[in-house]
Amino acid sequence: MSIDKVSSIDRVSSDETDEVGRILFESFKEIADRHGFPPEFPTIHNARGAARWLVGVEQVVSFAARGRSLEGVTFMSLLDDIAGIGPVAVDLAAQGRGAGRRLMQAAISEARDRGHPQVRLIQDAFNVTSLSLYASLGFQVVEPLAIVQTPPLQATDLPIRPADLDDRSALGALYERLTGVRRDAEITLSLQIGTVEVFERSGVTCGMVACYDDNRVNFGAAETAEDLLYLVGHRAALKGEVVQWALPMRHPGLLEAAVTARSRVVKMGNLMAIGEYEAPTAPHAVSFWY
Ligand SMILES: CC(C)(COP(=O)(O)OP(=O)(O)OC[C@H]1O[C@@H](n2cnc3c(N)ncnc32)[C@H](O)[C@@H]1OP(=O)(O)O)[C@@H](O)C(=O)NCCC(=O)NCCS
Repeated sequence: MSIDKVSSIDRVSSDETDEVGRILFESFKEIADRHGFPPEFPTIHNARGAARWLVGVEQVVSFAARGRSLEGVTFMSLLDDIAGIGPVAVDLAAQGRGAGRRLMQAAISEARDRGHPQVRLIQDAFNVTSLSLYASLGFQVVEPLAIVQTPPLQATDLPIRPADLDDRSALGALYERLTGVRRDAEITLSLQIGTVEVFERSGVTCGMVACYDDNRVNFGAAETAEDLLYLVGHRAALKGEVVQWALPMRHPGLLEAAVTARSRVVKMGNLMAIGEYEAPTAPHAVSFWY
């Protein structure tokens, strides 16, 4: 089904990003406040920046639910084989009337139409509405996540360096070997507009983390939990503050390594998936899409 067959869903236009940012900020803040957790977007300025970024990436498609005004939005990455949905937000005044479901149905349909049978997202475990909505649309919970904040690493002599575009094919191969997932386009995007840090042992690259320009690690993977923690802690040292990332709790020893490295658990989440899912064998960080 193409997008125009889903009633009153169309694209977000580039002159709507302030309004999209307001909806993101207010809706995420309301549910986080209700449960006593920190908001997803710390400020409206931050949410508007995210909206501008999402609308600006060519292979990220947007969905706008409209009534008399803009009621809700979501975005979907079609950068690589796996489609990643998020964030999804419905204006506080319009919640509970089906806009979230219509947005999600439109995104799932478009992913299928464009040849992406695997669709993934992450959600906050305290959010019973989104958990139920996604489950009713066929998403399975495949990984429980701990959202953790890791402080700056004190060590300064680690074999970690920023990657550049010349590294992209090696990084794509490394990430695929460690996780079983091809993520070449998003690695390239991270190299172009963010940062990818690599960990090398005896000249061999054995881990990587990809970040955009904020205090979060987006995605990454390494041979060992310790290597991944070195990479995350190094990123925190570069930023001079804690960095936040999503840690798959089932991975043996990873949560232990994180809390041993003085990470604080902020909240719990779930990685949810439509289509085939195989848990990566290597320790890894899950992004806001998958
Ligand atoms: C989550 C969100 C996008 C949902 O949008 P919405 O327009 O309010 O949701 P809808 O009305 O389309 O659908 C909600 C569905 O969940 C169901 N639901 C809600 N709470 C439920 C519960 N506790 N148990 C079971 N089902 C529940 C509703 O009955 C409804 O199903 P229905 O269509 O069969 O009636 C919206 O609430 C929001 O913006 N929240 C704040 C931001 C956010 O949390 N985003 C998601 C982050 S993971």
